[in-house]
Formats: sequence, structure tokens, C-alpha cells
Amino acid sequence: MSFLIEYIKHPRTIGAVAPSGNHLAEKMIEPIDFKSAEVIVEYGSGTGSFTKELVVHRKPETVLILIEQNKNFCHELKKTFCNQPNIHVINGSAENVNLYLKKCGFKHADYIVSGLPFTSLPAEVSENILESTRKAIGSKGRFITFQYSLVKRKFFERYFHVSGLLHEFINLPPAYVLVMRNIRESEIK
Ligand SMILES: C[S@@+](CC[C@H](N)C(=O)[O-])C[C@H]1O[C@@H](n2cnc3c(N)ncnc32)[C@H](O)[C@@H]1O
Repeated sequence: MSFLIEYIKHPRTIGAVAPSGNHLAEKMIEPIDFKSAEVIVEYGSGTGSFTKELVVHRKPETVLILIEQNKNFCHELKKTFCNQPNIHVINGSAENVNLYLKKCGFKHADYIVSGLPFTSLPAEVSENILESTRKAIGSKGRFITFQYSLVKRKFFERYFHVSGLLHEFINLPPAYVLVMRNIRESEIK
């Protein structure tokens, strides 16, 4: 219910009337190597659909940085995850990911998992976020996001190479999960 209320108040930034389902959450974390990940960032955690999976699968020493712009969701995330070690809940914008990483003592993230509604966010905000994300994942990290269609794929490909594409049918609506990495210099045409 809190999700629907926040959607009515901020349709463009919330971008969905309900939280993502468990199947999509499982699909979102499938590309993550939890054995080696030292720091995982999540954008737009909302009420924690993906966060719960990240918390269950990560090693306790893996740092999780949750960046959520909505104050009420942040409050809820803090309440739900305050008993867990190495979780930072940040009330801010994904545009500033590099600042938050630095404050937590990291230069790069191993994985950035995004629940952001890129189709409804203002273009300038999306562009700022993707530019910051390029820097944040460095040469080794992966950026994982879901989309209900592939209309934005070309937009993502201006910044990243799509190294994996998964499909989750058991979600309303069915969703794609895109796994991206930085374009290597040798691949720049
Ligand atoms: C579609 S909801 C996804 C929530 C959750 N990850 C899920 O899948 O159920 C999008 C979330 O992104 C957050 N958001 C939108 N713009 C943001 C930004 N610039 N930085 C961080 N979070 C943002 C919204 O407040 C909202 O919680």
C-alpha cells in the first residue's frame, strides 16, 4: 500500500504501482558472484524487493550501499535492515554514487543493481546516472538493471556493452534483466 501511495505522489520517480516480485528479484541477483563481491550498490531500493535477496545471498562482510531518493522508503529500509552488518542506507540520488562510494571507503563497486524507472525518469537525470555509473563500476564491475521492454537498450548501449540478457516471464509485466559492463577501449569504434 505504501508503494501505491508513493506512486500517486511521485509517478515519474517511483515508476511502478507495486514492488517487483520474488522471481524478478531472484533473476536480478543471478549474475552476481557473491563469493568475490566486496561492495554491491543498489539504486532505488524502494521497499526492498531486491535488497532482501542481496542480504540473504551476500557474505556478511560484503558491503551493501542502498541509494534511495524517497524519504519514506529510506525510513522503511532502515527499519527493515538496521539489524544487518555492513549496510548503508543513503537518502540521495544515484547521480551521486561516486560520492557515496568514496564516503564508504571505496573507489569502485563490484556490482550495481538498479531498480530505477529509466523510462519515466527525466532524460537528464538518467544520463547523469549512467555517466556516474560508468565511473563507479570501473573496468571490472557490472551494472544490472531491469526493463519491461527493450526500447531503452540503445540508450544504455551509448554507455555500456550489454554482456548478458535474461528474461523473467513470471512477473507482471514480464521483464528483461540487462547485465552491462564498460565498453573496453579496444571496442570503441
Ligand atoms: C520502480 S521503483 C523500484 C523499487 C524496488 N527496487 C522494486 O523493484 O520493487 C523505483 C525506485 O527508484 C527510486 N528512485 C527514483 N529516482 C531515483 C534516484 N535518482 N536515485 C535513487 N533512487 C531513485 C524511487 O524512489 C523508487 O523507490
